[in-house]
Amino acid sequence: MSDTVRKPIIGGNWKMHKTVTEARSLALQTKHALVNVADRIEVVVCPPFGALGAVGEVLKGSKIFLGGQNCHWEEKGAFTGEISAPMLRDLGCRYCIVGHSERRHKFGEPDEWVCRKAHALHLHGLAPIVCIGETLEERESGTTKDVVRGQILGSLKDVSTEQMLKTVIAYEPVWAIGTGKTATPDEAQEVHAFIRNILIDVYGLEVALRIRIQYGGSVKPESMVELMAQPDIDGALVGGASLEASSFAKIVSFDTGGES
Ligand code: 13P
Repeated sequence: MSDTVRKPIIGGNWKMHKTVTEARSLALQTKHALVNVADRIEVVVCPPFGALGAVGEVLKGSKIFLGGQNCHWEEKGAFTGEISAPMLRDLGCRYCIVGHSERRHKFGEPDEWVCRKAHALHLHGLAPIVCIGETLEERESGTTKDVVRGQILGSLKDVSTEQMLKTVIAYEPVWAIGTGKTATPDEAQEVHAFIRNILIDVYGLEVALRIRIQYGGSVKPESMVELMAQPDIDGALVGGASLEASSFAKIVSFDTGGES
């Protein structure tokens, strides 16, 4: 992370894990484990929809923010199985992940939907965490930058400067998600710098330097220090390692050797 005004942001994406009872217990452990770190680092946990209410209750009085994992762009209506931005807001969410690669690849979500979701979230006072990232085939065929550029421009179309300053980008190479294969700090930094350059082109240098870009993909406590030492890496979006309070706490307190 560079010495700019960007406050690191670390998110735990619990994906489709944890019943309400299990989620309450993990939230409680996470809250206790992170009691001293929340001022220097912004922390967000994103449980599955069914557990948002229970986790929100547990996190009350802590500085850990609550986030959704997805949303629909409409406020309400005949969209079976979906949840809207105002509903997430009502549950206490401040953030919501959109365009996660699992949504893009397993549920066929195009950039246009991700973009609509991002706009809906802004409209209702939530900050989107917009995920982008290339597949293994795309990386091997040398198209990583084209893919990332297309996803950024397509997912953030017509997002104003003011909205962009609240938006978080998560670079998650698909080949590194859940595989144990983290991108090396250099590989990640190269793409993060490329993303920041796109943001400079669209929003100007001053704004681009204030936008936070997280890395995601098999992040572990051991990989954090080196990742966070990169000038354009401003945090992490953590899947598997956020399902244990102790490993998530070690990741969040990367700068104090795991002591919170
Ligand atoms: P893992 O940390 O399990 O690789 O998941 C990353 C991720 O997809 C976070 O959104």
